[in-house]
Amino acid sequence: MATTAEVALTESALYPMSPVLHRIQGVKQETDDTFTLELSPTHSNGEAAFAPGQFNMLYVFGVGEVPISISSDPAKAPAIQHTTRVVGTVTKAMRRLKRGDMLAIRGPFGTQWPVAEAEGKDVVIAAGGIGLAPLRPALYSLMRRREKYRKIVLLYGTRTPEDILYRKELEQWRGKFDLEIQVTVDRAASSWRGNVGVVTTMIPRAPFDPTNTLVMVCGPEVMMRFTAQEVLKRGVPANRVYLSMERNMKCGIGLCGHCQYRGYFVCKDGPVMRFDEIGSLLNTAEV
Ligand SMILES: Cc1cc2nc3c(=O)[nH]c(=O)nc-3n(C[C@H](O)[C@H](O)[C@H](O)COP(=O)(O)OP(=O)(O)OC[C@H]3O[C@@H](n4cnc5c(N)ncnc54)[C@H](O)[C@@H]3O)c2cc1C
Ligand code: FES
Repeated sequence: MATTAEVALTESALYPMSPVLHRIQGVKQETDDTFTLELSPTHSNGEAAFAPGQFNMLYVFGVGEVPISISSDPAKAPAIQHTTRVVGTVTKAMRRLKRGDMLAIRGPFGTQWPVAEAEGKDVVIAAGGIGLAPLRPALYSLMRRREKYRKIVLLYGTRTPEDILYRKELEQWRGKFDLEIQVTVDRAASSWRGNVGVVTTMIPRAPFDPTNTLVMVCGPEVMMRFTAQEVLKRGVPANRVYLSMERNMKCGIGLCGHCQYRGYFVCKDGPVMRFDEIGSLLNTAEV
């Protein structure tokens, strides 16, 4: 008999262009420009499984459709969360939605963070700004099976202390699990007691064994490039460094070519990709 995850994959593979209506159960303002929508399908048979790192195509009625990573705990599906930064037309319209409003969702699509491959290793998670959102499901999965991993180190950088996402949750995790969390900001008032500087400055002293470490990175491309370079300098092999790529998307399923990145379709071959495969293409303009 098919497992829940297999059934969900079969359904989304069969009807990838058919959106599923979701009702907004809650809206949380995370920072000045970033909010989280909590959503549930209007009709559910409990099949909407997703893997950490995957994204959905969110359609705001009459406005447009955008790819947004799923930011919630995979174990809570079919209830899902999306954490979104307001940048333009669709994300602005999405921010105006309220509890009880509807969104249409296609997905989940794309590749996943290698949480199974990380078993038995130190795990370094490096996030920049909104990049923590796509990594949050991986953190939930790692925490759920904490005993399977060695050290888990979260290195998180934001512009200012006010831009830190999921602040309460990070504090709870720090107290509850064996998890090393280091946060840094680009700039802060004198009352800030933490690190100041970019994420990469924390890597030389971060507590992990480079010969047995898997690294997951998500943030602006320039941050991902320098983070990868720093962990490589420490001796982590390039095939143990994973990044989450962003490109313009339309179909989300490898048909339209909008997300093409040299020989790859980011919607299908990504968003999570290995540095040894795509590192040389980082910061390459879209074709
Ligand atoms: C696989 C994938 C996962 C993603 N996950 C998330 C997520 O979890 N949370 C999230 O907030 N966003 C995420 N994004 C980015 C998100 O899709 C875009 O921000 C969104 O499509 C912008 O649509 P818009 O209509 O609001 O802006 P548009 O009107 O399309 O753009 C407005 C302006 O913002 C610029 N812009 C567009 N995207 C970005 C961006 N990402 N950063 C900075 N400027 C931008 C445009 O160049 C333009 O100048 C993801 C993208 C991909 C491909
Ligand atoms: S978005 Fe259409 S091919 Fe990737």
